[in-house]
Amino acid sequence: MKLWSGRFSGDTDSLTDALNASISFDARLYKEDIHGSVAHADMLGACGIIERSEADAIIEGLEGILADIEAGTISFSEENEDIHMNIETLLTERIGDAGKRLHTARSRNDQVALDLRMYLKSEIKDIRSCLLRLLEVLCEKADASLEYVMPAYTHLQRAQPTTFGHYMMAYANMLRRDVTRLDDCLERMDEMPLGSGACTGTTYPIDRRRVAKALGFSRITENSLDGVSDRDYVIELLSSLSILMMHLSRFSEEIVLWCSWEFRFMELSDAFSTGSSIMPQKKNPDIAELLRAKTGRVYGSLVTLLTVMKGLPLAYNKDMQEDKEAVFDAVDTVKLCLPVFTQMLRTAAPLSQNMRAAAQKGFLNATDCADYLVRKGLPFRDAYTAVGKLVAYCVNTGKTLEELSADELKSASPLFEDDIYEAISPEHCVEARFTEGGPSISSVLAQIASIKKFIETADAE
Ligand code: ARG
Repeated sequence: MKLWSGRFSGDTDSLTDALNASISFDARLYKEDIHGSVAHADMLGACGIIERSEADAIIEGLEGILADIEAGTISFSEENEDIHMNIETLLTERIGDAGKRLHTARSRNDQVALDLRMYLKSEIKDIRSCLLRLLEVLCEKADASLEYVMPAYTHLQRAQPTTFGHYMMAYANMLRRDVTRLDDCLERMDEMPLGSGACTGTTYPIDRRRVAKALGFSRITENSLDGVSDRDYVIELLSSLSILMMHLSRFSEEIVLWCSWEFRFMELSDAFSTGSSIMPQKKNPDIAELLRAKTGRVYGSLVTLLTVMKGLPLAYNKDMQEDKEAVFDAVDTVKLCLPVFTQMLRTAAPLSQNMRAAAQKGFLNATDCADYLVRKGLPFRDAYTAVGKLVAYCVNTGKTLEELSADELKSASPLFEDDIYEAISPEHCVEARFTEGGPSISSVLAQIASIKKFIETADAE
């Protein structure tokens, strides 16, 4: 019999149960549901709304149910719809009438809003620590490759020389912002909604702050309609996760490119590559490709929730039950992808000779060549034109700038002297970029130090 059957005389259709029940996916909220109910019962007892002995019986009963769920001896029923009613029904079966008092001054609407917040707060902490481990690997990789000169690209055309270390720290900065986005999200989510009731609070003299404190929330929601109505905290998390996956996807795309014979900048470890069933020579970056693709699932969840919420009048609507599968899938996906990516990167070998060879072709040093002339007194725009002419000459004759003779160089500008060859070597081009944020060894070391400091502070939180 359903907990809400009082008003009804007929049974629900089995198809109604199939669509309506959420137990198949919200069962994973069992721990939060029980902890929330324990805090609620304790508060009801403390405020004299139920007898202390009843509160204690409820708490003991709930703890027994928690232990049994974790021991795998409980099976939930679709008849009881969701995790909230399943647990309440079990409690009353076990402890009798006291169990029926648990739902005093509470609705499933504020209960589910509480459970989901608690669950997501803890998931955010897990994801955050996965990100911190990835940041550590990026620092290690960067440290080991401060001198691996490679091309930086714009429009996927070789642009200017940089180093693999500088490249790693670019991603580290993106992922650091992802950590801080999660922190912001956690901070806003940290409001305790219980006491909102179905939508307009309750007539019982409850103590919401006591519940908030017991459950580790820093504050309570300030409006009961809002407390049960919004899922912006889910959407905000999904949007942070989407941005994070977008970063992982771009990085994965680069790894796919780097593993191609066209680039050959990276060799993945066998543990993170796959072969082909027909082509014996193949070593494919399937893992990087899948990480790229998983991004689509997370975006999908974000769009699902934005769409579910966009037309809902206040307050609770059953549509909101659809939030769970979407956000659970996104959280699971990110928690799978991050450690895989971290290990894949940690065990990957950057191929520095191939990077260096690529940096030598494609006139990456053309800007530096122009800067050389500027240092000799030429206005930048004239220097730019002179070097542009040299590049055109090189393209026609199949040479690089550093292969040109002193006479060839002087034909473009009399300011060229023998020190030009040193000035346009890839290593010199990189080291000359010693300003903050640049690829010189000292600049990248400062970037690594900054990220390491961030990890240390973030780990301590
Ligand atoms: N299972 C529901 C959900 O996930 C919570 C129950 C509230 N439902 C209701 N009909 N008042 O949103």
